[in-house]
Amino acid sequence: MRIDVVTIFPEYLEPLNVSLVGKARAAGRLDVRVRDLRQSTYDRHNTVDDTPYGGGPGMVMMTGPWGEALDQTLADGYEAGAHHPVLVVPTPSGRPFTQALAVDLAERPWLVFTPARYEGIDSRVTAEYATRLPVLEVSIGDYVLAGGEAAVLVITEAVARLLPGVLGNAQSHADDSFAPGAMADLLEGPVYTKPPTWRGRGIPDVLLSGHHGRIARWRRDEALRRTVANRPDLIERADPAAFGKKDREM
Ligand code: ADE
Repeated sequence: MRIDVVTIFPEYLEPLNVSLVGKARAAGRLDVRVRDLRQSTYDRHNTVDDTPYGGGPGMVMMTGPWGEALDQTLADGYEAGAHHPVLVVPTPSGRPFTQALAVDLAERPWLVFTPARYEGIDSRVTAEYATRLPVLEVSIGDYVLAGGEAAVLVITEAVARLLPGVLGNAQSHADDSFAPGAMADLLEGPVYTKPPTWRGRGIPDVLLSGHHGRIARWRRDEALRRTVANRPDLIERADPAAFGKKDREM
């Protein structure tokens, strides 16, 4: 997979050299290019923003630098053999980023991110590129960040761990909270490792029983308990067929 990021803060994307994403890059499974938007400015102050038409607070990122930077980014990618780019525009006004969207993005060969600062990018930029490629406006949650770069880090990490060969054990994302499958719509329950006693606290006996059926049942009960406590909305929208009589008695 190829990922391009156009930003006025290239250094903000340095965590993409670390840990899982860094390893995926080193292993050649992910090709990440970060481009400085200010390379596409031609005035003395490298201006990328201006006041909004219609008035109001803040500044809006200008069409000119974004148009040139995106044209260059797309040209470079096509020249390197990339194809079918998707423009991913992080914005609090976007559609919610979910595990299902991460799975969708992980199947795309090429993502181009446009993290904005200030009040966002002049809307003509997305309108223009939407005539040529899919454009997805994506929000990572109902809060407002100072810019989209942190959202790019979040989305890239969620996508990279789904790429073939990136996680050692494929089962580790089959069990994720929000993964499709048997535990769909439930959060993951608590986990334990050695030592068996810590500060007087033991671990649930069932986990030492070696009884796979009972362990699976316990995990499901704990997942349900945690979901009811932390995310009752997930239970409300789940398929009632996913829950049995025993669940309802909990
Ligand atoms: N930029 C600012 N806030 C954001 C959010 N919640 N999601 C994505 N991009 C953003």
